Amino acid sequence: MAGQHDISAVKRQAIWRLTSEGETMSAVAERTGVSEQTLRQWIMSAGLDGSDRPRQSPPSGFVALAFTPLEASMMQREARQFYQQMVTRRSVREFSDKQIPASILEHALLAAGSAASGANMQPWHFVVVRDAAIKQQIRQAAEVEERELYATRASDEWLNALAPLGTDANKAFLQSAPALIAIFLKKATIDAEGQRRKTYYTSESVGIATGILITALHRAGLATLTHTPSPMKFLSQILERADHERPFLLLVVGYPAAGVLVPDIERLPLSEIATFV
Ligand SMILES: Cc1cc2nc3c(=O)[nH]c(=O)nc-3n(C[C@H](O)[C@H](O)[C@H](O)COP(=O)(O)O)c2cc1C
Repeated sequence: MAGQHDISAVKRQAIWRLTSEGETMSAVAERTGVSEQTLRQWIMSAGLDGSDRPRQSPPSGFVALAFTPLEASMMQREARQFYQQMVTRRSVREFSDKQIPASILEHALLAAGSAASGANMQPWHFVVVRDAAIKQQIRQAAEVEERELYATRASDEWLNALAPLGTDANKAFLQSAPALIAIFLKKATIDAEGQRRKTYYTSESVGIATGILITALHRAGLATLTHTPSPMKFLSQILERADHERPFLLLVVGYPAAGVLVPDIERLPLSEIATFV
């Protein structure tokens, strides 16, 4: 149930949309889920009759949405082109040692940081590793875990699922790729004063941010590998991260090695991945 604070925020925004933005009662009712009758009461209690629409500044804590409607044909083109570009993304396990411009990584990380997150807690931290000695340390630690995984930890079912990918415990790409991005999930945030705040829907949020990061790097002409050495605790130690951060995933980033091959896999058709009701 919405608390006092939430109701007043909805009310402020509804009045602003009806008066300053000139939206209709029915549009605001649909947008807010508040009945038209209640909206009329709100307008009257605010001393407005809804017919005169004074230009007001947005209610405190709100700004106008920066939204550019696209023309129908443009929408079709954008949707198709985005799909066509994304379907060429593949995980790469052999990288060239060509360096990546820092600003490409920075912009991709800023894009990732724009992700939706539970209560806007932004429960992620990205550690970009370009230092050769640290990459070597990460490779060594990952290979210890991966040798264990392939030898004893992984079930036969898991090993069978991995077989078509041709992967093994050797993780040379952790050293050869120009950048590794270690992604940490914040179980809590701690501000400069040491104030601890709980985070919400953390896996969902960090998963969304990671998807945007992979997409941004792909669109910028780079290849990635989503790597999850299991377990990943060694990343916290090597990268000296605090206890409230949990290693989520290790993204290997760079240019693909010349002539690299990738597993010949297929995507499920739309009819299997989506249901329209
Ligand atoms: C959460 C997640 C964990 C993954 N972990 C590994 C990994 O540890 N090692 C690896 O070689 N590939 C890993 N992959 C890559 C998958 O094998 C790959 O995405 C899948 O085979 C589909 O291939 P594609 O990425 O080329 O489309 C992972 C992918 C995801 C999404």
